[in-house]
Amino acid sequence: MSHVGAKAPLVLGIETSCDDTACAVLDADGRVLASVVSSQIAHRPYGGVVPEIASREHLRNWPTVSERALEVAGVDLGDVDLVAATRGPGLIGSLLVGLSLGRSIAYALERPFFAVHHLEGHLFSPFLAETEAAAEVPERFVGLVVSGGHTALFDVAAGDASTLAQTRDDAMGECFDKVAKRLGLPFPGGPWLDRLAEGGDASRHPFRIARCGDTLDFSYSGLKTQALTEIETLERDGIETALRVEEGRVLATEGEPPQPLLDLLAGFRQAAVGQLLDRVERLRRGRGVERLAVSGGAAANRLLRRELEGWAKGVGVAVDLVPLVYSGDNAAMIAWAALLRHRRGETGHDGEVEAASRIPLGTAT
Ligand code: KG4
Ligand code: ZN
Repeated sequence: MSHVGAKAPLVLGIETSCDDTACAVLDADGRVLASVVSSQIAHRPYGGVVPEIASREHLRNWPTVSERALEVAGVDLGDVDLVAATRGPGLIGSLLVGLSLGRSIAYALERPFFAVHHLEGHLFSPFLAETEAAAEVPERFVGLVVSGGHTALFDVAAGDASTLAQTRDDAMGECFDKVAKRLGLPFPGGPWLDRLAEGGDASRHPFRIARCGDTLDFSYSGLKTQALTEIETLERDGIETALRVEEGRVLATEGEPPQPLLDLLAGFRQAAVGQLLDRVERLRRGRGVERLAVSGGAAANRLLRRELEGWAKGVGVAVDLVPLVYSGDNAAMIAWAALLRHRRGETGHDGEVEAASRIPLGTAT
């Protein structure tokens, strides 16, 4: 079996940094021939990710996920020219599974192996297209990564990223997840809160936008605490705040979630997104931003997408929002980052490369 028209090198990507087992196949143009993500549901009863469960599940899921990716791409494993896997950061046991699989496959096929930093994957993901060839990556851009583990701004030049700002405490996605958990929503709760906030009026329950002095750093723990406190206040006023998901709909005990809670969540989301806008606008005024690429799981947030697009238009900045399918953790972004390294003439790792649970961007190779 061979994919018709797929240009070499074909890249096989593997991503197992947290609880999603992902495998993808890209062609030389950065066209995603297949991107399979299997989310582990074994954690759900625990309201978070359990590291031991995660690594075991990766091992169990891998055969199905990788076979499916090759089948969808219409290629054989032997057709693969480059292999890439996430090196870190993430859960060490989970990373080890993907990294070992990647290295073994590359070794067996006698192909180059690329160990990719998870954030490098997110950073370049806005240039992927859903079905077409990837867009050309600009020589210089500002990358905003908003996920469950990171909220950070990077200056990217010639493929190298340097950190401009990062969160001092919680990441934006994490903040959403914690507030959602308090309401009884399943993990990860970010998407549910986003949906609920669409039905609220932020002006009826405004939250303050956090600042970290004159720096561009982020902070989400104050917003989280404020939201938790205000949920308690609603409860004291006799408003139902316990929510559950039934057949894809969020319900309170008495039916629809109450309007004051929706307003609270809208205000919360407005302040969370407002903080991002505050930082990118101050960065633009300070040193200038010509192009902004936005990625990460929380970049799926509806308000974030609307507001950043509006801002970009208003001030004349080019904004690349990651396609929704590649916002959450996936292996296409890992394969893509490796392909970009290959295009720059890098040859991958010859010797040992170790998984690293904590690793700053720029040290993955
Ligand atoms: O990038 P990702 O899949 O994993 C990490 O690297 O962290 O991001 C997952 C995070 C979770 O915290 C999830 O709740 C959040 O992204 N998220 C959202 C939305 N969709 C996913 N947060 C806010 N609004 C959303 N629509
Ligand atoms: Zn991620």
